[in-house]
Amino acid sequence: RLASLSGLQAGLLKLSVVTTSKYFFPHLLGPFCETYPNIEVSFNIGNRNSMIGRLRENKDDFYVFSHPPEDMDLETFEFVKNPLVVVAPAGHRLAGKKDISFAELKDDPFIMREPGSGTRFALERYLMETGHTINEKMTIESNEAIKHSVMSNLGIAVLSVHTLSLTTSDDFIILDVQDFPLQHQWYLVYLKSKQLSDVASTFIQFLQAEGGELVADLLSSSIAKGYLDK
Ligand code: PGA
Repeated sequence: RLASLSGLQAGLLKLSVVTTSKYFFPHLLGPFCETYPNIEVSFNIGNRNSMIGRLRENKDDFYVFSHPPEDMDLETFEFVKNPLVVVAPAGHRLAGKKDISFAELKDDPFIMREPGSGTRFALERYLMETGHTINEKMTIESNEAIKHSVMSNLGIAVLSVHTLSLTTSDDFIILDVQDFPLQHQWYLVYLKSKQLSDVASTFIQFLQAEGGELVADLLSSSIAKGYLDK
């Protein structure tokens, strides 16, 4: 384990994470707080744009993004993959088909995250780079509500595999679409000018040592099993 003197480390760790990382981040904090029982954690959640606002004002020790802003002087630590996949209702006409071209999905009603979301940012960049188009039908500000909408046949969506950690194939499926999963990473981020506290440095060490494995365990019994290795 990390430090034999872990009981002596005390203080507050202030974190802000984008909505999509709320599926795994608490599962990292559990073991961390068990190892360092005197460290307290405060934990904010919002979409990518609102987290960029907090980062600009240097409000927290760390931020978690998969698309950190490119116009700021940042320190970034990569700690786990963030693959984005196409999810569809279980009875979708292309269920079971291999190597689907994205163009085959152009008429399917698409459910999108809201402007300001990192997931939406990644999909829009993919569409811009490839020239593909989608039939955007709904915008929903919540990964959970998007999952339920896909389950009830309202359409298909692109989501991070981390949103699927407690999801089985009874609910919906991941389509085997060319170019997917879109490969992104989760980063722990802070301003380069920031002086890290001892507690914050301890958290980075913990994340680098144990983060990847803890997150992979979480996906191991879901439909997203194996996607971190693709
Ligand atoms: P989101 O961010 O929850 O705002 O979509 C996820 C990300 O940064 O990829």
